[in-house]
Amino acid sequence: MRTEESAMTSEQLDSLRTLRMDFSRLIMQHRFVVDEMLTKISILREESVHAHSYNPIEHISSRVKSPRSLLAKIRRRGLPLEIDVIRKEITDIAGIRITCSFIADTYHVLELLTAQDDIRVVEIKDYIAHPKPNGYRSLHAILEVPVFLHGGPVPVICEVQIRTIAMDFWASLEHKIHYKFNGDVPDRLIDELTEAADASDQLDRRMEQLHSEVHDRAPAVDTGEDFDDEAMRILWDLSRREG
Ligand code: GTP
Ligand code: MG
Repeated sequence: MRTEESAMTSEQLDSLRTLRMDFSRLIMQHRFVVDEMLTKISILREESVHAHSYNPIEHISSRVKSPRSLLAKIRRRGLPLEIDVIRKEITDIAGIRITCSFIADTYHVLELLTAQDDIRVVEIKDYIAHPKPNGYRSLHAILEVPVFLHGGPVPVICEVQIRTIAMDFWASLEHKIHYKFNGDVPDRLIDELTEAADASDQLDRRMEQLHSEVHDRAPAVDTGEDFDDEAMRILWDLSRREG
């Protein structure tokens, strides 16, 4: 890069720096959308634990594409270097993965998120109802969420993948194998993976069956641990004043 840079005219250098700034801003906005989504998701989780003593979410992870991987994808897709085009076309700059225990929870979490007024659904792909030929299962949602900046709200897209623990287990193994063989996975392994996907689907269904047999929605738990004696005394006084 050093030699190329020194061979550049100062205008070229300026425009390269401007581009870099535009890209950093784009990536920063996607970091913000991840932060917002993580807050939304943990609110859903905490509220569910509070109201139903039930945690539908086992694990949440997130990532924002690095400049290098974003630029590589732009090159692969043959997209122009226009921020607005990239913003619209590359929908996985911000990625969030939610792992649930049971299939019903995956749909429930998706429903709770998409019901929120500030979230616009761009696309939903239901690979649970319609698995990929290799057996991959997950719910994918492309969502658009406003991020509030100095200049006003900016709609930013993020990709949310929602899956069960069994689906996640399978997908990470499949990903590793794919990576190891550089995409050229031997037929025998592909067959084994497809069989394993079937087995994981059966496991999901059996676990869900078992779970629904034992699970009565528990009543709200008493989570009044923040209320010390003094708070309780004031609450008592106030409630008596109200009659
Ligand atoms: P990308 O261009 O890679 O984003 O794929 P796409 O536009 O076809 O979208 P799709 O919804 O099919 O997949 C998006 C993401 O889902 C991928 O980046 C992976 O994280 C995950 N995914 C999709 N298919 C598979 C699969 O067969 N195996 C694994 N392990 N992950 C998958
Ligand atoms: Mg992707």
